[in-house]
Amino acid sequence: MSSQWSQGEIYESYVGRWSRLVAAEFVAWLDQPAGLRWLDVGCGTGALTTAVLTQAEPSAVVGVDPSEGFVGFARGAVADERARFEVLPAAELSTDAVGGAVDVVVAGLVLNFIPDRPDALRRMREIGRTVGVYVWDYAEGMQLMRYFWEAAADVVPDDRERDEGRTFPFCNPAGLEGLFAEAGFSDIETRAIVVPTVFESFDAYWTPFLGGQGPGPAYLRSLHPNTQTAIRHLVESRLPANPDGSIELTARAWAARGTS
Ligand SMILES: C[S@@+](CC[C@H](N)C(=O)[O-])C[C@H]1O[C@@H](n2cnc3c(N)ncnc32)[C@H](O)[C@@H]1O
Repeated sequence: MSSQWSQGEIYESYVGRWSRLVAAEFVAWLDQPAGLRWLDVGCGTGALTTAVLTQAEPSAVVGVDPSEGFVGFARGAVADERARFEVLPAAELSTDAVGGAVDVVVAGLVLNFIPDRPDALRRMREIGRTVGVYVWDYAEGMQLMRYFWEAAADVVPDDRERDEGRTFPFCNPAGLEGLFAEAGFSDIETRAIVVPTVFESFDAYWTPFLGGQGPGPAYLRSLHPNTQTAIRHLVESRLPANPDGSIELTARAWAARGTS
Protein backbone atom coordinates (compact mmCIF):
# COMPACT_ATOMS: atom_id res chain seq x y z
CA MET A 1 0.00 0.00 0.00
CA SER A 2 1.34 3.41 -0.94
CA SER A 3 2.70 5.37 2.01
CA GLN A 4 0.49 8.30 0.95
CA TRP A 5 -2.25 6.49 2.93
CA SER A 6 -0.63 5.34 6.15
CA GLN A 7 -0.48 7.97 8.87
CA GLY A 8 -3.90 8.54 10.31
CA GLU A 9 -3.24 11.66 12.37
CA ILE A 10 -1.62 13.51 9.48
CA TYR A 11 -4.39 12.41 7.10
CA GLU A 12 -6.96 13.68 9.60
CA SER A 13 -5.39 17.16 9.61
CA TYR A 14 -5.16 17.27 5.80
CA VAL A 15 -8.50 15.88 4.64
CA GLY A 16 -10.06 13.60 7.26
CA ARG A 17 -11.54 16.49 9.27
CA TRP A 18 -13.20 17.94 6.16
CA SER A 19 -14.44 14.54 5.04
CA ARG A 20 -16.21 14.28 8.41
CA LEU A 21 -18.21 17.43 7.57
CA VAL A 22 -19.19 16.07 4.16
CA ALA A 23 -19.99 12.66 5.65
CA ALA A 24 -22.58 14.17 8.01
CA GLU A 25 -24.53 15.73 5.11
CA PHE A 26 -24.03 12.67 2.93
CA VAL A 27 -25.49 10.25 5.49
CA ALA A 28 -28.43 12.60 6.05
CA TRP A 29 -29.02 12.65 2.27
CA LEU A 30 -28.98 8.84 2.07
CA ASP A 31 -31.81 8.93 4.63
CA GLN A 32 -31.79 5.22 5.48
CA PRO A 33 -33.93 3.60 8.20
CA ALA A 34 -32.43 2.41 11.49
CA GLY A 35 -31.25 -1.16 12.03
CA LEU A 36 -29.45 -1.68 8.71
CA ARG A 37 -26.06 -3.26 8.00
CA TRP A 38 -23.57 -0.89 6.34
CA LEU A 39 -20.23 -1.36 4.58
CA ASP A 40 -17.74 1.56 4.35
CA VAL A 41 -15.27 0.92 1.51
CA GLY A 42 -11.94 2.73 1.82
CA CYS A 43 -12.93 3.68 5.35
CA GLY A 44 -9.54 5.27 6.08
CA THR A 45 -9.47 6.72 9.58
CA GLY A 46 -13.20 6.18 10.02
CA ALA A 47 -14.71 9.54 9.07
CA LEU A 48 -17.72 8.14 7.24
CA THR A 49 -18.10 5.12 9.53
CA THR A 50 -18.42 7.54 12.45
CA ALA A 51 -21.14 9.53 10.70
CA VAL A 52 -23.06 6.32 9.98
CA LEU A 53 -22.79 5.24 13.62
CA THR A 54 -23.88 8.58 15.04
CA GLN A 55 -26.62 9.43 12.54
CA ALA A 56 -28.07 6.28 10.95
CA GLU A 57 -28.60 3.94 13.93
CA PRO A 58 -27.10 0.96 12.06
CA SER A 59 -27.11 -2.56 13.47
CA ALA A 60 -23.55 -3.04 12.19
CA VAL A 61 -20.90 -1.23 10.14
CA VAL A 62 -17.93 -2.93 8.51
CA GLY A 63 -15.11 -0.63 7.45
CA VAL A 64 -12.55 -1.95 4.95
CA ASP A 65 -9.40 -0.32 3.64
CA PRO A 66 -6.12 -1.60 2.15
CA SER A 67 -4.06 0.60 4.50
CA GLU A 68 -3.04 -1.24 7.67
CA GLY A 69 -2.06 2.09 9.21
CA PHE A 70 -5.50 3.61 8.63
CA VAL A 71 -7.37 0.48 9.73
CA GLY A 72 -5.32 0.45 12.93
CA PHE A 73 -6.13 4.14 13.48
CA ALA A 74 -9.86 3.53 12.89
CA ARG A 75 -9.91 0.59 15.30
CA GLY A 76 -8.43 2.81 18.00
CA ALA A 77 -10.56 5.86 17.23
CA VAL A 78 -14.00 4.30 16.76
CA ALA A 79 -14.99 2.66 20.03
CA ASP A 80 -18.38 1.21 19.12
CA GLU A 81 -19.26 -2.47 19.35
CA ARG A 82 -21.37 -2.23 16.18
CA ALA A 83 -18.25 -1.39 14.11
CA ARG A 84 -15.37 -3.53 12.95
CA PHE A 85 -12.53 -2.75 10.57
CA GLU A 86 -10.66 -5.05 8.18
CA VAL A 87 -7.76 -4.65 5.77
CA LEU A 88 -9.20 -5.22 2.29
CA PRO A 89 -8.77 -3.45 -1.09
CA ALA A 90 -11.78 -2.80 -3.30
CA ALA A 91 -10.54 -5.34 -5.86
CA GLU A 92 -11.09 -8.09 -3.29
CA LEU A 93 -14.57 -7.02 -2.21
CA SER A 94 -17.13 -9.82 -2.09
CA THR A 95 -20.05 -10.74 0.13
CA ASP A 96 -17.95 -13.43 1.81
CA ALA A 97 -14.94 -11.17 2.27
CA VAL A 98 -16.98 -8.62 4.25
CA GLY A 99 -18.82 -11.21 6.35
CA GLY A 100 -22.17 -11.28 4.53
CA ALA A 101 -24.51 -9.08 2.53
CA VAL A 102 -25.28 -5.56 3.76
CA ASP A 103 -28.06 -3.07 3.10
CA VAL A 104 -25.99 0.01 2.30
CA VAL A 105 -22.49 0.33 0.84
CA VAL A 106 -20.75 3.70 1.08
CA ALA A 107 -17.37 5.06 0.06
CA GLY A 108 -16.15 8.56 0.95
CA LEU A 109 -13.35 10.15 -1.12
CA VAL A 110 -12.28 6.71 -2.35
CA LEU A 111 -13.69 5.90 -5.78
CA ASN A 112 -11.10 7.95 -7.69
CA PHE A 113 -8.23 6.11 -5.98
CA ILE A 114 -9.47 2.68 -7.03
CA PRO A 115 -7.79 1.61 -10.29
CA ASP A 116 -10.76 -0.36 -11.69
CA ARG A 117 -13.74 1.76 -10.71
CA PRO A 118 -16.47 -0.07 -12.70
CA ASP A 119 -15.33 -3.37 -11.19
CA ALA A 120 -15.38 -1.88 -7.67
CA LEU A 121 -18.88 -0.44 -8.17
CA ARG A 122 -20.14 -3.78 -9.52
CA ARG A 123 -18.71 -5.52 -6.46
CA MET A 124 -20.41 -2.98 -4.17
CA ARG A 125 -23.68 -3.51 -6.04
CA GLU A 126 -23.46 -7.26 -5.43
CA ILE A 127 -22.91 -6.78 -1.69
CA GLY A 128 -25.54 -4.12 -0.93
CA ARG A 129 -28.90 -2.85 -2.17
CA THR A 130 -28.07 0.86 -1.99
CA VAL A 131 -24.64 2.23 -2.88
CA GLY A 132 -23.53 5.80 -2.23
CA VAL A 133 -20.23 7.57 -2.75
CA TYR A 134 -18.75 11.05 -2.62
CA VAL A 135 -15.61 12.46 -4.19
CA TRP A 136 -14.05 15.92 -4.08
CA ASP A 137 -14.77 18.30 -6.92
CA TYR A 138 -11.04 18.30 -7.68
CA ALA A 139 -11.31 20.36 -10.86
CA GLU A 140 -13.20 23.29 -9.32
CA GLY A 141 -14.84 23.41 -5.93
CA MET A 142 -12.24 21.79 -3.64
CA GLN A 143 -10.53 25.11 -2.98
CA LEU A 144 -7.76 24.12 -0.59
CA MET A 145 -6.44 21.69 -3.21
CA ARG A 146 -7.10 24.04 -6.16
CA TYR A 147 -4.87 26.77 -4.69
CA PHE A 148 -2.14 24.18 -4.18
CA TRP A 149 -2.27 22.58 -7.64
CA GLU A 150 -2.56 25.86 -9.51
CA ALA A 151 0.53 27.24 -7.75
CA ALA A 152 2.38 23.95 -8.27
CA ALA A 153 1.62 24.03 -12.01
CA ASP A 154 2.87 27.62 -12.28
CA VAL A 155 6.11 26.74 -10.51
CA VAL A 156 6.64 23.38 -12.27
CA PRO A 157 4.70 23.56 -15.57
CA ASP A 158 6.02 20.17 -16.68
CA ASP A 159 4.14 18.55 -13.78
CA ARG A 160 0.78 20.10 -14.68
CA GLU A 161 -0.68 16.65 -15.34
CA ARG A 162 -0.18 15.72 -11.68
CA ASP A 163 -3.05 18.07 -10.75
CA GLU A 164 -5.87 15.96 -9.28
CA GLY A 165 -8.31 18.04 -11.31
CA ARG A 166 -6.69 16.41 -14.34
CA THR A 167 -5.95 12.94 -12.98
CA PHE A 168 -9.55 12.52 -11.78
CA PRO A 169 -11.62 14.09 -14.59
CA PHE A 170 -14.71 11.99 -13.79
CA CYS A 171 -15.22 13.61 -10.37
CA ASN A 172 -18.35 15.51 -11.39
CA PRO A 173 -22.05 14.60 -11.74
CA ALA A 174 -21.80 13.37 -15.35
CA GLY A 175 -18.71 11.30 -14.60
CA LEU A 176 -20.23 9.66 -11.55
CA GLU A 177 -23.53 9.00 -13.32
CA GLY A 178 -21.60 7.33 -16.15
CA LEU A 179 -19.66 5.09 -13.76
CA PHE A 180 -22.80 4.09 -11.86
CA ALA A 181 -24.66 3.35 -15.10
CA GLU A 182 -21.74 1.27 -16.41
CA ALA A 183 -21.85 -0.79 -13.20
CA GLY A 184 -25.55 -1.51 -13.74
CA PHE A 185 -27.22 0.76 -11.18
CA SER A 186 -30.68 2.23 -11.55
CA ASP A 187 -32.26 5.28 -9.86
CA ILE A 188 -28.96 7.16 -9.98
CA GLU A 189 -28.89 10.53 -8.26
CA THR A 190 -26.12 13.07 -7.70
CA ARG A 191 -25.80 16.23 -5.65
CA ALA A 192 -23.22 18.72 -4.43
CA ILE A 193 -22.17 18.95 -0.79
CA VAL A 194 -20.29 22.13 0.14
CA VAL A 195 -18.54 22.51 3.49
CA PRO A 196 -16.50 25.37 5.01
CA THR A 197 -12.76 24.78 5.42
CA VAL A 198 -11.47 27.53 7.71
CA PHE A 199 -7.83 27.94 8.76
CA GLU A 200 -6.69 30.20 11.57
CA SER A 201 -3.50 31.12 9.71
CA PHE A 202 -1.48 30.30 6.60
CA ASP A 203 0.60 27.86 8.66
CA ALA A 204 -2.57 26.03 9.65
CA TYR A 205 -3.39 25.72 5.94
CA TRP A 206 0.12 24.71 4.84
CA THR A 207 1.33 22.35 7.57
CA PRO A 208 -0.93 19.42 6.52
CA PHE A 209 0.62 19.63 3.03
CA LEU A 210 3.99 18.75 4.58
CA GLY A 211 2.84 15.37 5.89
CA GLY A 212 2.94 13.39 2.65
CA GLN A 213 -0.62 12.02 3.03
CA GLY A 214 -2.63 12.19 -0.21
CA PRO A 215 -1.52 13.02 -3.79
CA GLY A 216 -0.80 16.74 -3.26
CA PRO A 217 1.34 16.35 -0.14
CA ALA A 218 3.06 13.25 -1.57
CA TYR A 219 3.92 15.23 -4.72
CA LEU A 220 5.17 18.20 -2.69
CA ARG A 221 7.43 15.93 -0.67
CA SER A 222 9.02 14.61 -3.88
CA LEU A 223 10.21 18.10 -4.93
CA HIS A 224 13.46 19.89 -4.19
CA PRO A 225 13.18 22.04 -1.03
CA ASN A 226 13.62 25.25 -3.06
CA THR A 227 10.74 24.25 -5.31
CA GLN A 228 8.59 23.48 -2.29
CA THR A 229 9.34 26.94 -0.93
CA ALA A 230 8.46 28.58 -4.25
CA ILE A 231 5.07 26.82 -4.27
CA ARG A 232 4.48 27.75 -0.67
CA HIS A 233 5.14 31.46 -1.36
CA LEU A 234 2.91 31.48 -4.42
CA VAL A 235 0.03 29.80 -2.59
CA GLU A 236 0.42 32.20 0.32
CA SER A 237 0.35 35.23 -1.99
CA ARG A 238 -2.87 34.03 -3.62
CA LEU A 239 -4.93 32.80 -0.69
CA PRO A 240 -7.63 35.23 0.52
CA ALA A 241 -6.53 36.07 4.08
CA ASN A 242 -8.68 38.02 6.54
CA PRO A 243 -7.09 40.90 8.52
CA ASP A 244 -6.52 38.48 11.45
CA GLY A 245 -4.68 36.06 9.14
CA SER A 246 -7.45 33.50 8.99
CA ILE A 247 -8.37 31.94 5.65
CA GLU A 248 -11.92 30.97 4.81
CA LEU A 249 -12.33 28.53 1.95
CA THR A 250 -14.97 26.02 0.96
CA ALA A 251 -14.74 22.46 -0.30
CA ARG A 252 -17.28 20.97 -2.67
CA ALA A 253 -17.83 17.25 -2.97
CA TRP A 254 -20.02 15.46 -5.49
CA ALA A 255 -22.16 12.67 -4.06
CA ALA A 256 -23.84 9.91 -6.05
CA ARG A 257 -26.14 7.08 -5.10
CA GLY A 258 -27.84 4.23 -6.91
CA THR A 259 -29.80 1.09 -6.22
CA SER A 260 -28.99 -2.40 -7.42
C1 LIG B 1 -8.99 10.28 0.84
S1 LIG B 1 -8.91 8.80 1.77
C2 LIG B 1 -10.61 8.63 2.33
C3 LIG B 1 -10.72 7.93 3.65
C4 LIG B 1 -12.09 8.03 4.32
N1 LIG B 1 -13.11 7.31 3.58
C5 LIG B 1 -12.49 9.45 4.52
O1 LIG B 1 -13.50 9.88 3.98
O2 LIG B 1 -11.78 10.17 5.25
C6 LIG B 1 -8.79 7.57 0.52
C7 LIG B 1 -8.82 6.16 1.07
O3 LIG B 1 -8.92 5.26 -0.01
C8 LIG B 1 -8.17 4.12 0.34
N2 LIG B 1 -7.86 3.39 -0.88
C9 LIG B 1 -6.87 3.63 -1.77
N3 LIG B 1 -6.88 2.69 -2.73
C10 LIG B 1 -7.90 1.87 -2.46
C11 LIG B 1 -8.42 0.68 -3.08
N4 LIG B 1 -7.86 0.19 -4.19
N5 LIG B 1 -9.48 0.07 -2.49
C12 LIG B 1 -10.05 0.57 -1.39
N6 LIG B 1 -9.60 1.69 -0.75
C13 LIG B 1 -8.54 2.32 -1.28
C14 LIG B 1 -6.96 4.69 1.07
O4 LIG B 1 -6.28 3.71 1.82
C15 LIG B 1 -7.60 5.77 1.89
O5 LIG B 1 -8.00 5.31 3.14
